[in-house]
Amino acid sequence: MAIVVEKNGRLFNLHTADSTYQMYADEYGVLLHTYYGKRIDGENLADLIFQVDVGFSGNPEETVGNREYSLDCLPQELPSDGVGDYRESCISLLHENGSMAADFRFESYEVFPGSYKVAGMPALYDSDGEKGETLVITMREKASSVVVRLCYGVFEKENVITRAVRVENRGESRVVLDKCLSCCLDLQFGEYDLITFAGRHTMERGPERNRVRRTKLEVGSMRGTSSHQYNPTAILCVPDATEDYGDCYGLCLVYSGNFTACAQMDQRGQTRVLMGINPEKFSFRLEKDDCFDAPQVILSYSDAGLSRLSWQYHRILREHMCRGKYQHAKRPVLLNNWEATYFHFNQEKLISLARQAAELGIEMLVLDDGWFGKRDDDNSGLGDWYANERKLGGSLKELGDQIHALGMKFGLWFEPEMISEDSDLYRAHPDWAITIPGREPNRGRNQLVVDMSRADVRAYLFERLSDILEHAPIDYVKWDMNRSICDIYSRQFAGDRTGEVYHRFVLGVYELMERIIQRFPDILLESCSGGGGRFDAAMLYYSPQIWCSDNTDAVNRLDIQYGTSFFYPASSVGAHVSAVPNHQTGRVTPFATRGHVALSGSFGYELDLNRITDEEKAMVREQIADFHKYYQLTHEGTYYRLTPPGGRFCAWEFVDEQRDHALQTLVMTSAESNPLPVHTTVKGLSPDKYYRCSADSQIRTGRTWMNAGLTLRKIPHEYESVLIEWSAVDE
Ligand code: DGJ
Repeated sequence: MAIVVEKNGRLFNLHTADSTYQMYADEYGVLLHTYYGKRIDGENLADLIFQVDVGFSGNPEETVGNREYSLDCLPQELPSDGVGDYRESCISLLHENGSMAADFRFESYEVFPGSYKVAGMPALYDSDGEKGETLVITMREKASSVVVRLCYGVFEKENVITRAVRVENRGESRVVLDKCLSCCLDLQFGEYDLITFAGRHTMERGPERNRVRRTKLEVGSMRGTSSHQYNPTAILCVPDATEDYGDCYGLCLVYSGNFTACAQMDQRGQTRVLMGINPEKFSFRLEKDDCFDAPQVILSYSDAGLSRLSWQYHRILREHMCRGKYQHAKRPVLLNNWEATYFHFNQEKLISLARQAAELGIEMLVLDDGWFGKRDDDNSGLGDWYANERKLGGSLKELGDQIHALGMKFGLWFEPEMISEDSDLYRAHPDWAITIPGREPNRGRNQLVVDMSRADVRAYLFERLSDILEHAPIDYVKWDMNRSICDIYSRQFAGDRTGEVYHRFVLGVYELMERIIQRFPDILLESCSGGGGRFDAAMLYYSPQIWCSDNTDAVNRLDIQYGTSFFYPASSVGAHVSAVPNHQTGRVTPFATRGHVALSGSFGYELDLNRITDEEKAMVREQIADFHKYYQLTHEGTYYRLTPPGGRFCAWEFVDEQRDHALQTLVMTSAESNPLPVHTTVKGLSPDKYYRCSADSQIRTGRTWMNAGLTLRKIPHEYESVLIEWSAVDE
């Protein structure tokens, strides 16, 4: 059993293969967090808590006379607001009489086999390989009828603990939930760094590492999506943690909307980390018997550094979050017409691209933005999800049939959550756009956002998208989302329910995506938000791959894919070979390098194949052969970050499960005269096996390779790259 309950049902140990998470409901019913770290035997560790009267930290009424017991100092699972814990809280209530206190105490627990679900939202699910176990702890508010169910899931083998929260109003009076975070992690001892992943459009997810002190560290999004600017993931680690050393705790929020992640030391040097829906512009009204579900957080612990932590996330997301036919089925190598044509295409152009692609071994043509309504630039047409047959020279079915006749699959772009003011849909339903009556809305990319919180809007979109997907032979859908949300208001949830709209929007997106994938289970969905603006674990529940960034420059991609790799598996990272000079940066990189970089993801092309040289065409064939040859390694293998960004070269590696085969990619990022040697590390081999290295044909033991490394005989020029393989051989 991974979940062990003792001490009269008050001591909870959640054991994974290598970690233990412990809680204890004390004599006052406060649910203490007593341990999270390397696996232990589960003795009650509540006595590690050192209680003392610290002054100005008051005492709950039950403890009268005991000035040492203060919620302000205790490590807790559900720190609540307004009752004496002055640190950042997890939950805030607004009662009908205007008071704002919340004080939750332990009531009961339940353990059951299998994983729990989170209503309306993605969550890790059981697979044949591993089923989770669930603990639900019920906490009751002391002076009202609000009940919280804290859900804990354990994936033992995967070293993963999950948390989610359900709030129920069991009373007659209305309660407003002003804040409901999903997870609090209180660590009493030690110093920590917080690593977050920040960036901007076309430069997403760069790691930033800061020491947690008394000044609050906080990242988050108020854009309605998880955002390019901050990713809903964070790592807490000891200050000397490296890729291979040190205690690390990961937090990954399974949510695609506004979020917060923060860490702060309290007055006594204890560290509190919180994660969940951003409380800014959030409130949720709970009438009698209503409930609210906060999204899941996936926690994982590694005592051996950041790499192991990443592998744990890669596995759990690949095996227990991604779903459907393409969770494991090989993804088709695609050609996307966006950077090849932008809006300027016609049937002839598309067919010539498809024909050329088919000849070179590419397996799918994706028709991006511009195929519908009046859409020859990005100022009009969104919402009119009817094929522009004049532009396509016929129906979508005819186009799809022609592409299929070439032996290719056919993919199509949509942006269902958006509407242009210059569109028939907007003219018919201006109230479907998110705008505030009497106020001119902010435009992003000159478009407005559709009110996905409304069931009628979603029903229309489902019908429209289904009609298209049913009547044309479509194998793949790219679901894009190209602006941040503001002017938040919904005609359906107006007045004091406006605080619900951001969240209801996200639930609406999930509902529509779910209906689409259930109705069309053979379609491969790739999600996208101007590249990586919604690259989060929740999206992986619907789409096993996500367009990682609108930046296709191979050198910038090194940093973007590096940062992405801390939580997300390479199989989820949409990566394409594009033209040079690169459309985003103007940089010229070799065709081979662009291929090598894109090979470490969901591989494809995004350029006009009619404009590349014969030599480059030959390289496309080789790259596709490499894609097939290394697919297992790159999509299911263990990923090693070998160099941090900013060095002379960037290297990373995949190793297969049996440790018979390793593939390293090394890209030279700068050039120098009279160059120093390029010496690279090798990781993950089996110490006693013998391996031949493709770079120099030397045969050595894994132990030797891993300790001595490899010196390249020829130094690549700037932006050149090499693929190096280590293959196990008989002695
Ligand atoms: C943003 C996406 O990230 C691009 O790949 C492309 O699909 C454009 N939108 C189309 O408008």
